[in-house]
Amino acid sequence: MPWTRRHLLTLEELSLAEIEQIHATAAAFKRTLARSVKKVPALRGKTIVNLFLEPSTRTRTAFAMAAMRLSADVISLDGTSSSTTKGETLRDTAQNIQALQADMIVLRHSAAGSPLYLSKILDIPVINAGDGAHEHPTQGLLDTFTMKEHLGRLKGRKVVILGDILFSRVARSNIYALNKLGAAVTLVGPSTLVPHWFTDLGVKVSHDLKSALADAEVVMLLRIQHERQASSHFPSLGEYTSMFGLNKTRASWLNPKAIIMHPGPINRGVEIDSELADGERSVILQQVTNGIAVRMAVLYLCSGGQPENVYAGSDPA
Ligand code: CP
Repeated sequence: MPWTRRHLLTLEELSLAEIEQIHATAAAFKRTLARSVKKVPALRGKTIVNLFLEPSTRTRTAFAMAAMRLSADVISLDGTSSSTTKGETLRDTAQNIQALQADMIVLRHSAAGSPLYLSKILDIPVINAGDGAHEHPTQGLLDTFTMKEHLGRLKGRKVVILGDILFSRVARSNIYALNKLGAAVTLVGPSTLVPHWFTDLGVKVSHDLKSALADAEVVMLLRIQHERQASSHFPSLGEYTSMFGLNKTRASWLNPKAIIMHPGPINRGVEIDSELADGERSVILQQVTNGIAVRMAVLYLCSGGQPENVYAGSDPA
């Protein structure tokens, strides 16, 4: 099946076949990243602008690395170095970037729907690098890619997502991808952060950490997203940690083969203890590394590349 999308806005709108195409393309690029010459010529001559109007370490760097590995030129702008600080609108900023002949924009923004908005007013592809509490599609893709590396097919696999689900774009993108891949998802946390209506998305909701962890094959921790909470949703961080933080005792309730994931940034000692974040079951840094190959796949496909041409286009630059 040919790849037809120019934008990557959400995982909600992707089909299972499209998610699997991205994963297969990422796997091919991951093999090229294991070579001594990691660069491929697929996007030579193209310019990608990373417009990050919210803070980022992993996503921004991985998109820049991915663009460089594909031989594209990459320019990164953030909220302090762009003219948005002088009152320029997102629309004007994006239209100026297009007028400067960028071939693609990667956008992170605090407003849900801002990548969709840009996709309607620009002629170039727009990639969502996280929009408010809405979606973070490349994080969902790299998380499910990493799970498949460890578990194989995800059909019937039990995945627990634990933490601040209400304000998490990572949770939403993972829910959409995992449902399509056939995994059984349980959301766990305090009822204020994991309301029952999430069951409308086809997942289970639980406030009983011990029983949820008992049969989990994956546990994904999420941090408390203070920046999106206008009011407090629990009495104190200490109380949250005492009820839902993953510590050694609670990790002993897990299946011994279960993997521990976190999209980052980690708040050590809050949602996860250091000995688990750095322990042998943690795949947190593997997630980060996989973010390069997955974003190479997204940039390549949305630039008009086809999955079957990855090998042809992946000779060393
Ligand atoms: N996981 C994630 O989006 O991390 P950054 O905010 O550092 O990009």
